[in-house]
Amino acid sequence: MAVITGKAPGKIILFGEHAVVYGQPAIAIPVAKVKAAAHVFPDFEFRTGEIHIQAGDIDMDTFLSELDPQHPLAAAVNLTLAELQLEHFPAFQVQISSSIPISAGMGSGAAISAAVIRGVSAFLGRPLPDSTVSALTYEVEKIHHGNPSGIDNNVIAYNKPVYYRRGQALQFLQIEKETHWVIGDTGEKTPTLDTVSDLGKRHADNPRYYDEIFQKIGGIAQGARRALIEADIKTLGQMLNENQVLLTKLNLSCASLDRLIQAALNAGAEGAKLSGGGRGGNMIALVSPSEMDPVEKALYNAGAVNVISTKLAREPQS
Ligand code: PMV
Repeated sequence: MAVITGKAPGKIILFGEHAVVYGQPAIAIPVAKVKAAAHVFPDFEFRTGEIHIQAGDIDMDTFLSELDPQHPLAAAVNLTLAELQLEHFPAFQVQISSSIPISAGMGSGAAISAAVIRGVSAFLGRPLPDSTVSALTYEVEKIHHGNPSGIDNNVIAYNKPVYYRRGQALQFLQIEKETHWVIGDTGEKTPTLDTVSDLGKRHADNPRYYDEIFQKIGGIAQGARRALIEADIKTLGQMLNENQVLLTKLNLSCASLDRLIQAALNAGAEGAKLSGGGRGGNMIALVSPSEMDPVEKALYNAGAVNVISTKLAREPQS
């Protein structure tokens, strides 16, 4: 039996983070330059049922039976096995690797889950469709995030730009013209669970104030949809900046994010904002191709620990 590899890309939220948790629309795109992979292959030392999990990045080398079932990797494998309902399966190993920065708003947890679900189901001869990969990844995300909106599992499992609103049918964006984005990592890590639950408490104390901001953010995501499809970078740039003002009002920015955002704008970016959970993690800037280099350099000079450039391109017509 050959090695089977399940893969999933990183992601970045362009518009609407946090407001999406409260039912507003948001836009996210896959970032193919970084990815998670799960290599699955038979373990001939054992006859049946033993599942060996190795994740070098987090120094893990253990058996599924020894992992806490609440561990996200255990949950990803167990959910896959429950979905497949196989009576017997051979012993196998799952080797996980990822180039997606951890806790930086690039969906590393969701991508690892999706890669494991894909790899294990394909190895067992029953590759699961993207919709099931997304649904199972969402279940694992609940362990990481408590109350995830569902945007990360969708953009990652389908590997397509998405316009997402809780409780509504997922929309894929058919990009007509490409845009260029630079992602800068502050190196500061605040778990999304913390920023989401902190905002949840503040929202509960003063729902009117926060709902009004969430609605404005939702309005921006709605307007940005067409601008992104058509690569109207002037409008998009302005909307990124407006979204950032609102995120700052939500107290989700911080000195290091503000510094990188300002550096990108000074270097000629069309617009910039934090991306993901906030209070650290990543920011994104929209650039024209000629501004990409200067913006990358400016971000490093302003203290970014990592910079990734990505292109949102038209999907090849099949
Ligand atoms: O930190 P990330 O990139 O996983 O983004 C979280 C996005 C939030 O809107 C803050 C939470 C969510 O579940 O959508």
